[in-house]
Amino acid sequence: MRWQGLIQQYREYLPVTNETPRLSLNEGNTPLLPLHTLSEQLGIEMYVKIEGANPTGSFKDRGMVMAVAKAVEEGSKTVICASTGNTSAAAAAYAARAGIRCIIVIPEGKIAMGKLAQAVMYGAEIISIEGNFDQALKIVRALSESSPITLVNSVNPYRIEGQKTAAFEICVQLGGTAPDVLAIPVGNAGNITAYWKGFKEYNERHKTGLPEMHGFEAEGSAAIVRNQIIENPETVATAIRIGNPASWISAVKAAEESNGKIDEVSDSEILEAYKLLARNEGVFAEPGSCASIAGIIKQVKSGEIKKGSKVVAVLTGNGLKDPNIAIEASSIKPVLLPCDEKVIYEHIRGAVLH
Ligand code: F0G
Repeated sequence: MRWQGLIQQYREYLPVTNETPRLSLNEGNTPLLPLHTLSEQLGIEMYVKIEGANPTGSFKDRGMVMAVAKAVEEGSKTVICASTGNTSAAAAAYAARAGIRCIIVIPEGKIAMGKLAQAVMYGAEIISIEGNFDQALKIVRALSESSPITLVNSVNPYRIEGQKTAAFEICVQLGGTAPDVLAIPVGNAGNITAYWKGFKEYNERHKTGLPEMHGFEAEGSAAIVRNQIIENPETVATAIRIGNPASWISAVKAAEESNGKIDEVSDSEILEAYKLLARNEGVFAEPGSCASIAGIIKQVKSGEIKKGSKVVAVLTGNGLKDPNIAIEASSIKPVLLPCDEKVIYEHIRGAVLH
């Protein structure tokens, strides 16, 4: 049957009523791709869940379709969120689709160009603050409590409900079993919370088993790993530049209950993984997403992920979201030549075909 988006597809698993609008941009049903080269290099069976294939290019669409549909069901006319970029792109798109207003609050200069382009195009009201994500979230939480505006950050439980569906898909795509290890980037910690809920619920109904949950923060923003709020979080992976994750406690619980771990990876490990994934596998995911790949490489080396394990890494966002980092991080630069067949041929013969 034709895929009709998450609300329709998973309505028995979601808080969907007859009054819930069947909102959709055809989100979900994303590929689970085996990584042949990396699997062989690391001695594991490795897959990536390509969430960048969602309509706005990130996993946020899964949560946002639910959050916006429920906002509409409850009579709301406006949604608001703080964001490092992807949440705001998804909120703006689903609000546009539903015909309601969207206000986004973002940290000035710290959101990737593709994400900003999306918010502009979808017609959101954009407020850029001289502050970070944590400060923006505090402000929008307060605003939503004292006004009829609906908060659609992942503290909204409908976000978690929508996002848990990715865990269902992984179990189905692996032929009816959960992986041994689920590796996932951690920012505000909503997604690791959602996946763990999803794996548990699916296991209850279909006996698919449970993975170890391995979450990865960026070193300069690793509040959970350090067990302290980071006032000025920093990382090249702006998507997860968060120093006081809202779902901190449930992320720790997911790691503990599943016998997993919240760990950290450095910016250079993230960028290495980012380039490796694109060059060796043909998969282009944004830097924040590649914290999961960097984390797997780190933990295979340390022995925390055992050889032979079946490991799924969640690639949370599309590489095209952040073109500036790609150009900066790559050593490949276009060669400028005159528009002359002979010159171009000589260059190719000399530089490429030797
Ligand atoms: N990966 C990407 C690409 C993200 O955009 C985010 C979060 C995460 C991972 C982390 O997920 O917050 O549930 O732990 N982005 C949010 C945003 C904060 O505003 O777009 P998390």
